Amino acid sequence: MILSRTQLLTAAERFGTPLYVYHAAELDAALARVQTAFGDARIFYAMKANPNLTLLARMRAVGVGFECVSAGELARAEYVGAGGDGVLVNGPAKSPEEYAAGARLGATFIVDRAEEVRLLPPASRALVRVNPALNVSTHDHLATGAKSSKFGVTPEQAPAVLAALRAAGHDARGLHVHIGSAIRDASDFSAAFARLADLRVETGNLEVLDVGGGWGIDADLPGIAREAWAAAGAFGARLWVEPGRYLVARAGTLLTKVVGTKRTGRSFLLTDAGMTELLRPMLYGAEHPVTALWDGEQQEAWDVAGPACESGDLLARDVTLPAPVPGALLAIGEAGAYGASMSSTYLTRSRPAEVLWTGTDWQLIRRRETPEEVWAAELSVSEPVLGA
Ligand SMILES: Cc1ncc(COP(=O)(O)O)c(C=O)c1O
Repeated sequence: MILSRTQLLTAAERFGTPLYVYHAAELDAALARVQTAFGDARIFYAMKANPNLTLLARMRAVGVGFECVSAGELARAEYVGAGGDGVLVNGPAKSPEEYAAGARLGATFIVDRAEEVRLLPPASRALVRVNPALNVSTHDHLATGAKSSKFGVTPEQAPAVLAALRAAGHDARGLHVHIGSAIRDASDFSAAFARLADLRVETGNLEVLDVGGGWGIDADLPGIAREAWAAAGAFGARLWVEPGRYLVARAGTLLTKVVGTKRTGRSFLLTDAGMTELLRPMLYGAEHPVTALWDGEQQEAWDVAGPACESGDLLARDVTLPAPVPGALLAIGEAGAYGASMSSTYLTRSRPAEVLWTGTDWQLIRRRETPEEVWAAELSVSEPVLGA
């Protein structure tokens, strides 16, 4: 389900570049694939992948809950009407504001360390996050279940934390695991789930097993689901999942304009988007498909580089493209997750606009920021002395 070249060119002409475009039908298709694979598991969308309110509202309308990791994300969940058992509060260092917001919403807390037993609001619903201490097949920065990761408690500690939560009057419902992001190999998940299932002897039956997200966009979902249900079955538990990337990555494309070219040690194709719009290549060497929206015979390998004054500001390396045409467009694919959500105002660059193809027209779902909006919070503190 891809958008045509004409559709993309029209969007860029109407809304300018850099521009994030999303395809509603692909968002729906990704959710349907998850629902088909996981049956009646409860789905909590990890909104860090893309917290756009329109996307959240669409998911909320079909009963998807949200995994939130900040007061801001909790406010987004509340804004789209989520609450109660439709919200999870996660994170290794939750703030007092986050505990308070979670309590107000009646959310379930994912307990990440033993000290949280006394930090939780009274009579909280809670799951205990377990770090299975596994090395998984993904970039180091994307691994969250390795022994060296900061997340969760050890499997040995988990039963005691569950007991302490209950003793303190909390509703400790079960266990949680999330081993990282963009993981393709189903055996990584089965190893993590098996590590949890081993705890059944000490914990007894549990109400909920939350196996997180982290599925690569071409991962074997039915295979992962089978393993997850087997682990939940060992506890007699309901299954919860927290996909982020899987639900939104394929539906999103970053459109960027060719600014020009330069040949030094390498051949650079310079674009109007870079690390401030799409950080993933720089942050963890992520590779995104790059498509030229122009024609040409002569093919050559280019490094696609953004406008920031940073050597690492590259969107892709060694991409074979027809001879570049300044002003023409490149489509950076699979950019719906951790694209717009990680975009920044570094260099006082305005974060890009976002548009959704609804099937009949483009819907503007976030307008481009103005420079004044980027610096607005500085003016509210004290009026700067201009021209002094
Ligand atoms: C606890 C937790 N759940 C779910 C996710 C979503 O991961 P992904 O987007 O890879 O599915 C993350 C991502 O960091 C996470 O930390």
